[in-house]
Amino acid sequence: MTTNNSSGPLWAGRWGFVLAATGSAVGLGNIWKFPYMTGEYGGGAFVLVYLLCIAAIGIPLMMTEIAFGRRGRGSPVEAVRRVVAESGGASFWRVLGWMSMICGFMILCFYVVVAGWSISYLWKAVTGGLDAASVEGMAGIFGANNANPLNLGFWSTLVTVVTMGIVGKGVQEGIERSVRWMMPGMVLMLAVLIIYGMFSGGFGRAVDFLFGFEFDQLSGAGLLAAMGHAFFTLSLAAGAIMAYGAYLPAGKSIARTTFTVAICDTVVALMAGLAIFPIIFANGLDPASGPGLIFMSLPLAFQQMPLGTVLEVIFFIMLTMAALTSAISMIEATVAWLQQSRGISRARAAWSTGVVLWLVSLLVVLSFNVTAEWTVAGRNFFDWLDYLTSRWMMPLGGLGLSLLAGFFLKSNVMRDELGLAGVRYALWLFMIRYVTPLAIVVVFIDALGIAEL
Ligand code: PHE
Ligand code: NA
Repeated sequence: MTTNNSSGPLWAGRWGFVLAATGSAVGLGNIWKFPYMTGEYGGGAFVLVYLLCIAAIGIPLMMTEIAFGRRGRGSPVEAVRRVVAESGGASFWRVLGWMSMICGFMILCFYVVVAGWSISYLWKAVTGGLDAASVEGMAGIFGANNANPLNLGFWSTLVTVVTMGIVGKGVQEGIERSVRWMMPGMVLMLAVLIIYGMFSGGFGRAVDFLFGFEFDQLSGAGLLAAMGHAFFTLSLAAGAIMAYGAYLPAGKSIARTTFTVAICDTVVALMAGLAIFPIIFANGLDPASGPGLIFMSLPLAFQQMPLGTVLEVIFFIMLTMAALTSAISMIEATVAWLQQSRGISRARAAWSTGVVLWLVSLLVVLSFNVTAEWTVAGRNFFDWLDYLTSRWMMPLGGLGLSLLAGFFLKSNVMRDELGLAGVRYALWLFMIRYVTPLAIVVVFIDALGIAEL
């Protein structure tokens, strides 16, 4: 086994890190969340802000996170502690490692439930359970799937077990081995779906909706949502990228891998939008129908297509694999931290994490039926987990990391780790010092309504 200087594991294959990080980034965020958020927040203006956030915030921060992970060679908690200590920084910066680990855990608590929707729909597609003839009928199937906690809990439990099983096997034997076949498989299936989609026509209105900017449509809430989604979709400030960075062999280019991951992620999100909105408009569906959007619109469209069932099965296999390769990245930080801080085996760390995760995820399951109406400030448990993590914890964690890396570390630390010099280093430094934190702060201020942009 290849190991690093603190005798932890490293990605074995040449493509190990890129596959794992792209697997982390490309997930339900791209195919489930991006389309329904774009629908809710009115289309083009949301998309534009989201893209700007990827460029101004996402890319510089992803580079920074990978550098922290590799420099610290440990779980995010350890990595941040070591990198801060190396520069003699104040110990309160350690909160950034803890917050990102907890954030990844919190996201996974609801992510397994949504991934459960995906597998249950795969099952329905295979067994002919998606045969409603109208939008209302599909909405009924979606509602019924959520209404029974035992049904919903069964599927999310399955996702939890598979996720923890993969992570428990280790970085190379578990994570790397699974992304090595799931990622190419996903790309292949996505290609089949897109080629098919290109011949089914009807892109016009979707393109208008996604790329026609009407600025007056974007509220402060929409801005915050777009920024939060940029974090979510790139897996930032949630422990995932930093944890994976810890296994990146020395000498690999951080900048290059970051661009690869960010571009793949963006392309998949935009393609998902281009695949889904034509169907929405052609069937007179409401683009603002929320988290159920793809589960109501796509099955309906698949029914009217030749070979529809085959495509539907391919789609839900693809979606499930996208979800799994992201889920494993969200929990790696916690498992690595437990393993390192308690000196226990990876398998034990994974199963004990899995039990806690499972219990909290059952509360999320209940928030779709039994406790759906138990809301605080209009949000139930599921809504709160999603809202707190992507609107607040990730942007705040990102703000903290950018300030720490930009101003408070010894100047050689990030430069050495990023392996950049001259203009390239200067550009990263300028972004991480000024552009990234300012962009985050401006969105926060606007969202809080303190100032109007
Ligand atoms: N990036 C993943 C997606 O788009 C979600 C994710 C968030 C993964 C945070 C890891 C950490 O689905
Ligand atoms: Na994503």
